[in-house]
Amino acid sequence: MKAIILAGGSGTRLYPVTQIINKHLLPIYNKPMIYYPLSLAMLLKIREFIFVINPEDEPFYKKIFNHGEKLGMKINWVIQKKPRGLAEGLILAEPFIKDDCILYLLGDNIFFGHDLPKIMESAKNEIEKNGGAYIFGYYVPDPERFGVVEFDEEGKVISLEEKPKKPRSNWAVVGMYFYDKKAIEFAKNIKPSRRGELEITSVNKEYLKRGKLKVKLLGRGFAWFDAGTHDSFLEAGEFVATIEKKTGLMIGCIEEIAYNNGWINKEQLLELAKPLSKTHYGRYLMKLVEKK
Ligand code: G1P
Repeated sequence: MKAIILAGGSGTRLYPVTQIINKHLLPIYNKPMIYYPLSLAMLLKIREFIFVINPEDEPFYKKIFNHGEKLGMKINWVIQKKPRGLAEGLILAEPFIKDDCILYLLGDNIFFGHDLPKIMESAKNEIEKNGGAYIFGYYVPDPERFGVVEFDEEGKVISLEEKPKKPRSNWAVVGMYFYDKKAIEFAKNIKPSRRGELEITSVNKEYLKRGKLKVKLLGRGFAWFDAGTHDSFLEAGEFVATIEKKTGLMIGCIEEIAYNNGWINKEQLLELAKPLSKTHYGRYLMKLVEKK
């Protein structure tokens, strides 16, 4: 499985800030937003990534990650000239996916919850074994802002709608999707929506039509933020700060995960920590070496 991370877009809902800097590079508390979805895929031991970005942001992203070598992984860069919708990311990433399955992550979605990697792992295994798509629902008070999934009494999906005016349920579809490679063909054949975008919901509907869509609901023990508006951006930052201070453990610390995965050794970790030594982040990384 390879992971595609969508990190382009115009970020208009975070204007004026995002007039000059890409949303995904802004800090959620103590690290760039993009670290959070990236870290989730790394927890699944996914080692090859395709980042979909805007042309003007390429130098900044490459300055942070280059091709992923410092973290012992591989990052391929794909330029999206104009944002035409989430499903376009699948089409643009095609040359790198080949015959693999896909974990598709939206760069502004932040997740936290006990055993989330385990839940993701079972979705990954299911798709790799049986194909199809796996999506996740999260109960929200304002479903009209999202893709919405509706179920029957037995928990079978009845409908999927993108930002419906009259939502049929309170279950939002979060920005984490597991797909077999058919997703790319589906994305190529869907039509732009009323807002003129190739919707990821349209791709999911293709799987639903064929009886190949699985949904898991993330219950009360989970936190999910779509950090694409001023309020949710702030809430996500406050949440991460609170949890990190309470537990003494970091959320979305990509260097820590690379080290725990055995992709980098002690010396490499210390090298990454050195320029951060004035921060709690840097000291946290240095302490990891002492622990093992
Ligand atoms: C996108 C998807 C939507 C999903 C949401 C999750 O919306 O289109 O289905 O629920 O991400 O963050 P957007 O953020 O592009 O408006």
